[in-house]
Amino acid sequence: RIPEPCALVIFGVTGDLARKKLIPAVYDLANRGLLPAAFVILGFARRDWGDGDFEDLAREAAKKHARTPWREEVWTRLAGNFKFVGGSFDDNDAFDTLTSTLDDLRASHAIQGNAAFYFSIPPGAFPLVLKQLERTGAADNTVSGGWRRVVVEKPFGNDLDSARELDDLVDDVFTGEDVYRIDHYLGKETVQNILALRFANAMFEPVWNSNYVDSVQITMAEDVGIGSRAGFYDTAGAARDVLQNHLLQLLALTAMEEPVGYSPDEIRTEKLKVLRAITLPGDLENNAVRGQYAEGWVAGEKVDGYLSEENIPAGSTTETYAAVKLGIQNRRWAGVPFYVRTGKRLPRRVTEIAVMFKKAPHLPFHAYDTETLGHNQLVIRVQPDEGVTVKFGSKVPGTGMELRDISMDFLYGEAFTESSPEAYERLIRDVLIGDKTLFPDAAEVEASWAVIDPLEAFWAGRKPHPYAAGSWGPAAADEMLSRDGRTWRRA
Ligand code: BG6
Repeated sequence: RIPEPCALVIFGVTGDLARKKLIPAVYDLANRGLLPAAFVILGFARRDWGDGDFEDLAREAAKKHARTPWREEVWTRLAGNFKFVGGSFDDNDAFDTLTSTLDDLRASHAIQGNAAFYFSIPPGAFPLVLKQLERTGAADNTVSGGWRRVVVEKPFGNDLDSARELDDLVDDVFTGEDVYRIDHYLGKETVQNILALRFANAMFEPVWNSNYVDSVQITMAEDVGIGSRAGFYDTAGAARDVLQNHLLQLLALTAMEEPVGYSPDEIRTEKLKVLRAITLPGDLENNAVRGQYAEGWVAGEKVDGYLSEENIPAGSTTETYAAVKLGIQNRRWAGVPFYVRTGKRLPRRVTEIAVMFKKAPHLPFHAYDTETLGHNQLVIRVQPDEGVTVKFGSKVPGTGMELRDISMDFLYGEAFTESSPEAYERLIRDVLIGDKTLFPDAAEVEASWAVIDPLEAFWAGRKPHPYAAGSWGPAAADEMLSRDGRTWRRA
């Protein structure tokens, strides 16, 4: 399905996200023939630029970061559709120009008054931009005659209270159905496959509960540090940056009940039930670990510690690693720990969900019982090496009855010839066609903050454990599992 004629307005268009993800995604959509003929990309940033300067930036960004091959003719078709408005967020004139530009585009580019506003800006600037869109009437679809949608990047708020305030503000300016909160993990092919794996098959669901599952481990490891995002990152930390959103969404998809149908409302209803059933352990001291990377080696290169990164205040206690044991209070999951961890400057980039099964109740192979044998695992490899691994015991070929754990792999690259769209490509298209299936709603965001707030309160004023860059995080995180008689899976 091709979106209706429209404009995509990007605030913060010179920033990292726009250059690395949003503009390349627009090019990829154009390359796959998924954009309407009448389409404009309108950039807004604090630059004294003309449309041509913006197109130059966009071209460079798309050439460098697009997923699909470069085709000059695709760009040439897109190139006439770049518009730029320069100004700061408190500049009324700039927003008046933006609004009149959108009006003019109706005649000049036949966009029919449809526009999506993408907030690729620091969260602190959301209220100001929302107020400008309200003041100028740009958010009002009764005035524009087409649809007006808003796309808000995470983090949506900084805690439950600020998320609620932001929700109220957004709701004052846009109607609820026109608000798209982005969690780009939901745009990943492998993440969408969680529901397919669970609910399109007969063999997984019967064992997907506390009768058979011992524990679940969700890991999001990154080898990179904080890059040039010190300003944002130091006020957020790992829990607010990715645990509150990406990891809790992964958990919700893994643990939710079957939705009545594959529709935004039905899916969100089930995710919300899980998010609301999450509990933190009573003993946070032993079951919630935060860490901060010290200098070390990653991929053969010596790297700085967090405190030596540019623009990080001396003595910062922001965490770059977080691990916590969560519970889910419902009949399916009572008693099953969900160990969730994330960190920067870990040995490699890997995101996975590992469902660890209980041991076989009895092993008739007397001499070959080992610690691990019979402890089956089903691992959803979100990235890289996208796929699913099932680990189970098998007879080792030979004259005896020796047993060993082996893996059975499904690899996207082998099973499919179709290429996966990049998450942002998928999600931008969904915004333009008005499909909210892959977007968390306000209630989900708030339920997630309700999990994080007490954790942050517990951590406030406590120093994170240092860990060497290139290691798997602080020893305290290993101890957290070993106290439960478990270990982290070697991801
Ligand atoms: C972002 C976080 O949401 O996700 C970043 O703000 C993180 O800190 C990034 O690096 C990881 O995304 P991906 O798709 O590369 O796993």
